[in-house]
Amino acid sequence: MEGVSWPSQEELDRVRKVVAEMAGRNSKEVRVVVSPYRICPLGAHIDHQGGVVSAVTVNKGILLGFIPSGDSQVLLQSGQFKGEVRFRVDEIQHPRHSALKNDKIITNGSSKSKEECDWGRYARGALYALQSRENHLSQGIIGFINGSEGLDSSGLSSSAATGIAYLLALENANNLTVSPMENIEYDRLIENGYLGLRNGILDQSAILLSSYGCLTFMNCKTKEHKLVRPKLLKNQEADMLKSFKILLALSGLKHALTNNPGYNNRVAECEEAARVLLHASGNDKLEPLLSNVEPEAYEAHKGKLEATLARRAEHYFSENMRVIKGLEAWASGNLEDFGKLITSSGLSSIKNYECGAEPLIQLYEILVRAPGVYGARFSGAGFRGCCIAFVDASRAVEAASFVRDEYYKLQPALASQINPDNAVLICEAGHSARVL
Ligand code: GLA
Repeated sequence: MEGVSWPSQEELDRVRKVVAEMAGRNSKEVRVVVSPYRICPLGAHIDHQGGVVSAVTVNKGILLGFIPSGDSQVLLQSGQFKGEVRFRVDEIQHPRHSALKNDKIITNGSSKSKEECDWGRYARGALYALQSRENHLSQGIIGFINGSEGLDSSGLSSSAATGIAYLLALENANNLTVSPMENIEYDRLIENGYLGLRNGILDQSAILLSSYGCLTFMNCKTKEHKLVRPKLLKNQEADMLKSFKILLALSGLKHALTNNPGYNNRVAECEEAARVLLHASGNDKLEPLLSNVEPEAYEAHKGKLEATLARRAEHYFSENMRVIKGLEAWASGNLEDFGKLITSSGLSSIKNYECGAEPLIQLYEILVRAPGVYGARFSGAGFRGCCIAFVDASRAVEAASFVRDEYYKLQPALASQINPDNAVLICEAGHSARVL
């Protein structure tokens, strides 16, 4: 596949071997879902308000090897987490608070706590999403899921990549034909409906729609999307795509967004800002989303917002503008301008959206100073995980080692929890999720 170096044959063989052993079948029968992680260079924290976002997948992510089980049983193991998850596809799934009670986990013959079997919730969530849209499944799977080393909980949308992996596997095993747009909605049901996180559709749109070499653009209100290619001559386009790398710099902070009230609190603040602005402009009847506030109404009435809400709204409106400008910069192959917009986006996340944890802010500042970096920001919601940067390919190694050393000086305790080989990864753009 054009330009895409992941997964390697070795990684695929490993996953196939584990599933073949679990199922007592031949490894040639094992199918594999490839579900990449994504970065969002521009368009942070505005998807849940119906804003416009941009994304690129990277050549790292989740592999889910599976075989239809021949009956309704689902049996799963994970490369990252202990234990087995078992359930049946004909069990009706309910949102998480009640569903978790039914997770059965067996490790060394003894039952384990809910926390330890938490990783099974995405598989159950996928079943919940399919069932909620009248898909009645009869075929379970025997599967082994494995994420790229060191990158779980990194703000690279490992949760959406996992949810999509289970959706694609269950759909494939049950011969269901489902469009990417339907799967975007199904993954939204996993996150919003099943897990209770009020996030938008950025992550799954990126994972399901991306194509190597393109910037994926999504209007989260209208669902209009497009793949933006640099408008250059073929050889210039190839040169541009080879001229940069993507750095993933890990902070060592890990905790699930669903366990952190910060994300849903910010969503509520954006809604409150929208309510005030809609009221001031005589549009009380519209749903309180910032995308329902015209930019002119924002300019006319922003003085009515109290300071915190004013900052959230400023992030929303300025970030939408950065995405539009970023698409133009990408289309004209101008990585310098594209990078500057990413860095401004990162600053707005810190100053206006106020969601970068201290170590992530430090990493961001280090990346911005690093040799050859065009632009940087923290990835995902900013409460954990990693920072991303676009960097001149010829200086990527130098930049990675600079970032590793500088971060260690500021955060020795966190930095020493990360395997030094994975602390700053040099990646390339990837493709969309697929079944091999
Ligand atoms: C997380 C959420 C997304 C998006 C980003 C921030 O990844 O899952 O919906 O809000 O944070 O841009």
